Amino acid sequence: SLLRAASPADLRRVVAGWHAAAETVAFVPTMGALHDGHLRLVEQARLEARHVVTSIFVNPTQFAAHEDLGTYPRTLERDATLLAEAGCDLLYAPTASTMYPAGFATRIAMDGPALGLETDHRPHFFAGVAIVVAKLLNQAQADVALFGEKDYQQLRVITRLVADLDIPTRIVGVPTERDGQGLALSSRNAYLSEGELDIARRLNGRLAAAAARVRAGDPIDAVEQETGAALLVDGFASVDYVAVRDAETLNPLKAAVDRPMRILAAAWLGRTRLIDNMAA
Ligand code: PAJ
Repeated sequence: SLLRAASPADLRRVVAGWHAAAETVAFVPTMGALHDGHLRLVEQARLEARHVVTSIFVNPTQFAAHEDLGTYPRTLERDATLLAEAGCDLLYAPTASTMYPAGFATRIAMDGPALGLETDHRPHFFAGVAIVVAKLLNQAQADVALFGEKDYQQLRVITRLVADLDIPTRIVGVPTERDGQGLALSSRNAYLSEGELDIARRLNGRLAAAAARVRAGDPIDAVEQETGAALLVDGFASVDYVAVRDAETLNPLKAAVDRPMRILAAAWLGRTRLIDNMAA
């Protein structure tokens, strides 16, 4: 059965008990509205450690004032049922005032992988992710924490954060879970109409074609531009970016390199913003 904790002290007490018994702990931070992508992380977490902790916290500091904090889907009891079925041991669901009590005064500013891409369009975003993930990892004291490649820049930022702050938790990236037609699963897909879903499902194919062109030696700036134009023809309302980057540092590339590359994109359908990425 699923244990629950709502305070850092309760969370740490349970984890300390497991560690005292020499049992390892894996941690899956989420914002809830769980889907098969999240459950894939839980499944991988069970392979990485004896116990699995999942957090659900819709983190206000990573939403800008105009974004969807107020309407972000909240399905806590359904999520708890899914987590119990998936073999998660402990659900940690703190409140906003537990995470950010009056007087909270700390910020984390990051360069490196946090520069560009999402930051160009959501300048508040990685400061919010960095502070909440640093807090969650410190609270959980887990041996390993899992994050999805779906949010690839976030995965690179968190890997850098944990190295820079000497947080003793190993970070594991998990491949993107997709529907039968290649659409990356996302809590925000719930906002899409049937017609928008048809368009959304083209993003993954466009990125795959672009990745193949990059590997074949086509000029990167042409591939980026033409892929963005193709997405507009497909029916996306606007394209924030299509970018080919060094897969580890996320540094921009002038031309294809021998190291792993990544193609990343963000585009709008109505009021919904979709992101996706893949190896190039
Ligand atoms: P959230 O969007 O709920 O995602 C939680 C985790 O699930 C992230 O690591 C994300 O990359 C992963 N995930 C989401 N969709 C996925 C998919 N289709 N396949 C594989 N993994 C997927 O990302 C966040 O929450 C927050 O920013 C958080 C890290 C919890 C900090 O608030």
